[in-house]
Amino acid sequence: MTDEELQTRVQALSGDFAPLLLAWQRKDGRHDLPWQNTRDPYRVWLSEIMLQQTQVTTVLGYYKRFLERFPDVAALAAAPQDEVMAAWAGLGYYSRARNLHKCAQTVMERHGGAFPRTAVELAELPGIGRSTASAISSFCFGERVAILDGNVKRVLGRLLAFDGDLAQLSQEKRLWRQAEALLPASEADMPAYTQGLMDLGASHCSPRQPQCLLCPVSGLCHGRAQGDPTLYPIKTRKLKRGQRENWWLWLEHEGRIWLQQRPSEGLWGGLWTLPMYDSEDALDAHRQALGVAELETLPRVQHALTHFDWVLHPRRAVLGATAQDASGAPALPAGQWVAREQLSQYALPAPLKKLLD
Ligand code: ADE
Repeated sequence: MTDEELQTRVQALSGDFAPLLLAWQRKDGRHDLPWQNTRDPYRVWLSEIMLQQTQVTTVLGYYKRFLERFPDVAALAAAPQDEVMAAWAGLGYYSRARNLHKCAQTVMERHGGAFPRTAVELAELPGIGRSTASAISSFCFGERVAILDGNVKRVLGRLLAFDGDLAQLSQEKRLWRQAEALLPASEADMPAYTQGLMDLGASHCSPRQPQCLLCPVSGLCHGRAQGDPTLYPIKTRKLKRGQRENWWLWLEHEGRIWLQQRPSEGLWGGLWTLPMYDSEDALDAHRQALGVAELETLPRVQHALTHFDWVLHPRRAVLGATAQDASGAPALPAGQWVAREQLSQYALPAPLKKLLD
């Protein structure tokens, strides 16, 4: 499809698309999520970051608890990083939590505690990409800016039968321009329009089995007119999933567990885990150094991340009352003893929390 054909297509649609989507959102869309019915950018920003990689049903509980603990941007900025990580623990993609904390501090230091009101300025803050910035400014300030997250790429890719390969940055930019051309005229409509795109992507315009008969814009949809909307959007780059294996050493002594904190950058950055080894031999060398006779083999733990499947092999030993190393002698890997009752105050990755329970 040439640029001219695409433009003609968008122009023909643009008068009808936003009004139909708006009418549908107001009637059938979601209105009672806890981050709706507010224009407080702190609350909207927090919800958008949590929702980036996590489903609404999971986010609900975390969102409520997080706001109770950190009711505003000043409280979050002032909190120790460990407490922020502990409140996030289990949501995954922990760089989001580190950036969240950094972002709150930047809003305090550079913006006097008030989030900026335009998408361009919001996108300069840590952890806020273009689509998230637009979601915040359209929801809170009615700015006429387009969002284009994964779900919206699907909705608009199908609507336009957009045949560019979104693995190419130039094609992604081209779709951004179409998303801008489809915006409603009035700022007052922006919150419902943005929510409508999200709601449609989360409901009828699902990845595998779209419910076109229920879709408010199916009459405009070029993907449907061509017969198979699921052919769009096109993205050639396939994720190659890798495999990774590690061994976990679970040491217990008088009801306490030895935990170590991961470096702040990288996988599970800043979280507390059991000492981790790349091979069974490495683990075994350490077992000997600790003077532990035998380790109990526990069922392996499987954990799927975006780029690889992770298999973790837990090995457990309960140190006796006389264990030399129980007091934190040098043979123990850097870390600390944590009583079981204290575990909830530490940011543990979800699979470890499950294992220790
Ligand atoms: N996903 C991303 N943003 C959302 C929102 N505001 N409501 C529901 N799901 C979302």
